[in-house]
Amino acid sequence: MSIISRKVLNAIEPQYVLEGAGVRLRRGFPTEALDYLDPFLLFDDFSSNNPADYMKGFPMHPHRGIETVTYILAGEVNHRDSIGNAGKIGAGDVQWMTSGRGIMHEEMPSSRSGKLIGFQLWVNLPAQRKMNEPRYQGILSADIPEVELNDGVKVRVIAGRVGQVEGPVTGIVAEPTYLNVFIPSYSSFTHEIDEDRTAFAYVFEGEGMFEVTEGMARQFIQHRKLVVLGAGHSLVVKSKGQSIRFLLVLGKPIREPIARYGPFVMNTREEIEQALRDLRNGTFIDPQPNSDSNSWYGSPAKEK
Ligand code: FE2
Repeated sequence: MSIISRKVLNAIEPQYVLEGAGVRLRRGFPTEALDYLDPFLLFDDFSSNNPADYMKGFPMHPHRGIETVTYILAGEVNHRDSIGNAGKIGAGDVQWMTSGRGIMHEEMPSSRSGKLIGFQLWVNLPAQRKMNEPRYQGILSADIPEVELNDGVKVRVIAGRVGQVEGPVTGIVAEPTYLNVFIPSYSSFTHEIDEDRTAFAYVFEGEGMFEVTEGMARQFIQHRKLVVLGAGHSLVVKSKGQSIRFLLVLGKPIREPIARYGPFVMNTREEIEQALRDLRNGTFIDPQPNSDSNSWYGSPAKEK
């Protein structure tokens, strides 16, 4: 069997959108160019040097049927949720939140220097797991291993594995790989990928060469681009005079119909209507001990 490396199918320019209470962010998908990358439903880059872009934040809102993954590289995000988690997501930290049948949460970015670098990924859940109990994995930067490869290439392993090093996020249905890759100038990075995995890279700093055809043809991809990768067994990225930083995200497709409405992603329209009814009736989340559960229903569901 010959080894086929994954080629660039599409290099998408993220689109500016307003989200949450008025956060100006770059959306990789869903956009007109790309609706869905099974099992991934959304990729947002809310990085900015201007606090006006992000300070309004993402006040209390619901989720059902998905996982939301927040990764912060500079600045911080204050968060709290209806299953009792609260605190700060600091630089290098990851929050992997599995909404299951219902969670309400709030994420408010801030930064002392003004500089925020952060990303959010949505991962779908299969029908049989959409109504499970919500689950929260808060992972600190110090618990995310960094692997040094050839030529000064460094990879932070959030989920999945690089060589013998495994990331701390576990027990996720889509069996994701989530890597933060740094390639210094004139170096290369190769990563083996199972053939059945959906794969994309998000280039957020510098530039590098990704393969576009079998053989020698490569394309320079400059930040910021979301690179959808085709079928194959590995990814090869090379740098020239500039370094490159990108996220590499892989996951196992779920292959089920999806019905979306804002922060809910279910299989059918009827299930979406049920989520909206549960929200109206105050039965969306479990009653909270020692608190007025109505206080969690502060914001209506919004189309996202
Ligand atoms: Fe959210």
